[in-house]
Amino acid sequence: MMKWVLLLLALFGASPTASFTLVKSVRFSRCLRAAATDCPLPGTAKLDVDWKDLGFEFRPTKSHLKLEYKDGAWGKPELVSEPYIKLHIGATALHYGQACFEGLKAFAHEDNSVHMFRPDENAKRLKSSCERTMMPVVPPELFLEAAREVVKDNMAYVPPYGSNGAMYLRPLMFGSGPRIGLQPADEYTFLIMVLPVGDYYKDGLAPIPALVIEDYDRAAPRGVGNVKVAGNYVADLLPNMEGKKKGFPIGLYLDSSTQSTIEEFSTSNFIGINKKEKKYVTPKSSSVLPSITNKSLMDLAKDGGWKVEQREIPIKELETFEEVIACGTAVVVTPIGKVVKGDDIYNFGDGKTVGETTMELYTRMRKIQNGEEEDKFGWNVQVC
Ligand SMILES: *Cc1c(COP(=O)(O)O)cnc(C)c1O
Ligand SMILES: *[C@@H]1O[C@H](CO)[C@@H](O)[C@H](O)[C@H]1NC(C)=O
Repeated sequence: MMKWVLLLLALFGASPTASFTLVKSVRFSRCLRAAATDCPLPGTAKLDVDWKDLGFEFRPTKSHLKLEYKDGAWGKPELVSEPYIKLHIGATALHYGQACFEGLKAFAHEDNSVHMFRPDENAKRLKSSCERTMMPVVPPELFLEAAREVVKDNMAYVPPYGSNGAMYLRPLMFGSGPRIGLQPADEYTFLIMVLPVGDYYKDGLAPIPALVIEDYDRAAPRGVGNVKVAGNYVADLLPNMEGKKKGFPIGLYLDSSTQSTIEEFSTSNFIGINKKEKKYVTPKSSSVLPSITNKSLMDLAKDGGWKVEQREIPIKELETFEEVIACGTAVVVTPIGKVVKGDDIYNFGDGKTVGETTMELYTRMRKIQNGEEEDKFGWNVQVC
C-alpha cells in the first residue's frame, strides 16, 4: 500500500510531506491533455436561474484553469474544480498589489459552435500589464490555448444561442510568492475563471447620467492607468459609491494633472459622437486603459464612413456631442444621457432615448459576436 502511495507521489513529483494537499489536488485537478477533445454542447448545465435571467455575478461552474510560474518557468496548465487557492501569507499580490487581470467573452452561435471575441487582444494587453508590474509574461499562444481549454471544459455553462448571454472569462495574474522588501515575487499564479453572464440589456438599452469625479483621481499620467492592474479598481471604489449615492450610476474622470480634458469612465472608455461632422471622438491619454471594445467600435465606425479621432477632448467639447457612449466588454455600450460637473450640465439627445449611432454600433457588434453578421474583421476565435 505504502509503495503505491510513494509511487503515486513520485509520479507527481512531490515529496511525501506534501501528501495531503497532493491527494486533494489530484482529486480535483485534471491534466489539460485529458480534457475533452470532442466538442460538448453549450447551454446544457442546470443552473439555479433561467439562462435569460442571468446577471453579472459569480456563479460556480465546472472548473477554472490554473497555471503556475516557479523557478523561472511556467508549469503545466491544470483544470481545477474547487474555486479556492492556497496562498502564502507573504504573497506580493496581497501586500503590494502585484496583480492584474483581463476580461473577455465567448458566445454560442446558432450552430452551437462557440467563439471567443478577440482573445488575442487580451493576451497582448495582459502582456503589457505584466511588463509594467514586473510579472512574467504568459506567452500569447499559451494564453489562447488555456482560454480555449477552460471554455471547452465548461461548455455546458456557455449560455445557449438566443439567450443573449455569454460566457465571461476572467484571466487573473498575481505574485503568489512571498516578498517583504520591495521586489517582484519569484512565484506567480495565472488563473482563468469562467462564468455564465446574462444580457446587460434585458429590458433594452437606456441612457444613464454620469457624474464628473472632482474629488479623486483614478490614474496618474505616468502611473498605471494604461494597464489593467487590480489597484486601479480599488482607487475607483469610493468615488464610485459616492457617485451612486448621489444618483449617478457611472463616474467620469478628467485628466488628473489639469482636470480639463476627458479621460474615461470608471471602468469603461469614453466615446463622443458628433453627428454634424460625422465624427467618432475618443480621448488620447497616457492614463487611459486601451479598451478592446473601443478599438472594435472604432473599426465599425470607420467602416460605416465615420471619421475617427483619437485626441485630447476638452471638457467643453461635450457641448458638441449628440451622443456619448461608455464602452466595455461587459456591456459593449452604455448610452450616457447627461454629464454633470458641479453646476454644469451637458445633455445628449433628450436624455431618454438611445441615440441612433449608439444603437447601430451596438447592434452591429452584437450581431458579429452572435455569428449573425459576417465577421469581416476576423474577430471571432472558435473554441470548437
Ligand atoms: C477593462 C477596462 C475597460 C474596458 O476594456 P474592454 O477591453 O473594452 O473591456 C475600460 N476602462 C478600464 C479602466 C478598464 O479596466
Ligand atoms: C479607444 O481605444 C483605443 C484602442 O484600444 C485606445 O488607444 C484609445 O485610447 C481608446 N480611447 C479611450 C478613451 O480610452
